[in-house]
Amino acid sequence: MSRRRAHDPLAWIETLCAGHPSELAQELRALAPSWDVHQFSVQNHPVIAVCEGRTAWLFVGLPHDDDATQDRCLSRMRTELADRGVTKLFSGGPPRWYLHSGLDPAGPQARAWQRAGAVVASAHADLTVSTAVAAPEDLAVHRPTPDEASAVIAWISREFSAAWAHECAQALTHQGLFVTRDGSLGQALGETLGVAAFAAHSGHARALGTFGPLGTHPAARGRGHATRVTHCALRSLGLLGHATCTVPWVNEESQRFYRTICDVNAVHNRTLYCLTTT
Ligand SMILES: CC(C)(COP(=O)(O)OP(=O)(O)OC[C@H]1O[C@@H](n2cnc3c(N)ncnc32)[C@H](O)[C@@H]1OP(=O)(O)O)[C@@H](O)C(=O)NCCC(=O)NCCS
Repeated sequence: MSRRRAHDPLAWIETLCAGHPSELAQELRALAPSWDVHQFSVQNHPVIAVCEGRTAWLFVGLPHDDDATQDRCLSRMRTELADRGVTKLFSGGPPRWYLHSGLDPAGPQARAWQRAGAVVASAHADLTVSTAVAAPEDLAVHRPTPDEASAVIAWISREFSAAWAHECAQALTHQGLFVTRDGSLGQALGETLGVAAFAAHSGHARALGTFGPLGTHPAARGRGHATRVTHCALRSLGLLGHATCTVPWVNEESQRFYRTICDVNAVHNRTLYCLTTT
């Protein structure tokens, strides 16, 4: 069994994601420095966990073999990671990398986690959505100008989350961030930016065609901002050659929203399981 800190997880990822290696490579190089990638093998099956402090995320799955092999593999992984000081292990991730947002809850891998006593940390879906949408009527949707870009990212961080702001900053570097404005909102909130909603694409797993995050300021909801900005981002993905895209990590309520405003071609249920290692 080998145990090592991996500085370049790309070889594994490229095997996993054959077909889009160079684009994925670029994105992973940006993320990899903070990763402690732990690789070991169980019956010649490579198992990879990405660790940060006491938490680890399983990035490449268990072998697709029989129950006993999967159970042994999971148990070995828990022991290995416990030795490294990890106390919590998740069945997907790592954060900000939604290529693997969890396991199919009906699949054999999920059953192995269930047998091991895992708890459900998140139940959500990855949606496959068509990028063929009508041109937005409202030309007020635009990409942030270079002058306002940092203020827009700061606004997303303040109003939504730092994680979303990070993804949007990534999207911005690929022309993948769109915003709508609402002058009256700016006045009401006493700020000049007046951004009402944002939508991003290509903030992660760019080569695969990913959409999100998306948000409308609470004071501007229900006025079609999210629809306009989403349609603009989807059309942009379409122009890049993606007939469909993935919207990862969508909860049930948001699934209803996406069904209302665009064609959802497939819903892949995903469950993020959590196991303690002790
Ligand atoms: C979800 C969200 C982006 C919607 O923004 P919005 O600007 O109010 O949306 P729109 O005005 O364009 O609404 C479009 C349609 O979706 C429906 N809709 C809006 N929010 C919805 C929700 N949470 N659930 C189900 N349907 C919703 C609206 O009723 C409307 O349908 P209608 O035209 O038939 O009336 C906003 O509520 C938000 O920012 N939520 C928090 C962040 C979030 O959940 N982002 C999505 C993560 S995947």
